[in-house]
Amino acid sequence: AAPTRYEAENATIAQGAVESNHAGFSGTGFVNGENIAGPYVEWTVNAPSAGTATLAFRYANGTTANRPSDISVNGTLVADDRAFEPTGGWPTWVTSTLTAPLVAGENKIRATASAVGGNPNWDYLDVEIAGPSTEYQA
Ligand code: GCU
Repeated sequence: AAPTRYEAENATIAQGAVESNHAGFSGTGFVNGENIAGPYVEWTVNAPSAGTATLAFRYANGTTANRPSDISVNGTLVADDRAFEPTGGWPTWVTSTLTAPLVAGENKIRATASAVGGNPNWDYLDVEIAGPSTEYQA
């Protein structure tokens, strides 16, 4: 199945704002969280069935230091202090991918800044649920 895109500006935002002053984002803007530990963006993702999903976070980090973020799914930590590495500039967006299990129906995927620098700027989350294999044995 093709991934479904969830724009950060449409997610639940804690301690952050939607901005558009750095080019290259998808949708109408991106989320700039405060530069402290704790701000988060939480996407509500609907999965047609339970299974392993590929989560692709598009972000920018124009600093020279990692912006670590705790990634949780439905309250369970799936990536502790995931390093969102420098991208080379604020208008330079890259995608960082991990896999995590989703339940059927609604899932809450949250990225919480885990260090004092805060989160990177978030553009979107792409979610692709693994479908049944198209291979078969005759
Ligand atoms: C700059 C940049 C912001 C970014 C911030 C940060 O102010 O313009 O988009 O969020 O740095 O360090 O997080």
